[in-house]
Amino acid sequence: MSVGTQEEAKSLDGFISLDISEEYKHAFQVSNLAYHVAKEMGLEDGICSELMVAGVLHDIGKLMLVDHIYGDGDHSPFIIEELKYMRMHSTLAYGELLDKGYSDTILKSILYHHENYDGSGYPANLRGERIPLGARILRVCDVYSALRSDRPYRKARDMDTAMQQMIDEVRFFDMQVFLAFQRVVHKWEWRESKG
Ligand SMILES: [Fe+2]
Repeated sequence: MSVGTQEEAKSLDGFISLDISEEYKHAFQVSNLAYHVAKEMGLEDGICSELMVAGVLHDIGKLMLVDHIYGDGDHSPFIIEELKYMRMHSTLAYGELLDKGYSDTILKSILYHHENYDGSGYPANLRGERIPLGARILRVCDVYSALRSDRPYRKARDMDTAMQQMIDEVRFFDMQVFLAFQRVVHKWEWRESKG
């Protein structure tokens, strides 16, 4: 089970609330972070840009779930019942974006962004390097962005707390990705602290 999912399940007894403005913020945070982590890992410019796109789109399946379950309408805040539906969001996004001109790197990064390095993720329980690199990068950035954001059931963690929580659960992540991610975050936070 993923870090974020554990918290959501514990805190909401199976109910998940989606705040649309938070979802947009999260998408752009993940996009920005994924681009810089890919750069830090020395990946080609083209791949870095593809991960930027994948970051923006990675959770669109959550928005599609609302219509999937309730049909069209105004849902503010969005409430999705039952965790099992939430686990469909990466596959729904992949299906929606397929045949719309997105590269294989973008599509596979989105489809597998909830796979964990130890094989405990979804939708396919992929393990280790069987998980596409782009998805391994999105996984780390996605969890960090979620921990640093306010949720309806808890306040945002500060950088040190978020980082420590990820270290405690580092089995979920590719270590090379995680180390690059730590360097990027520390550079950013250092810059911010300098104003
Ligand atoms: Fe997701």
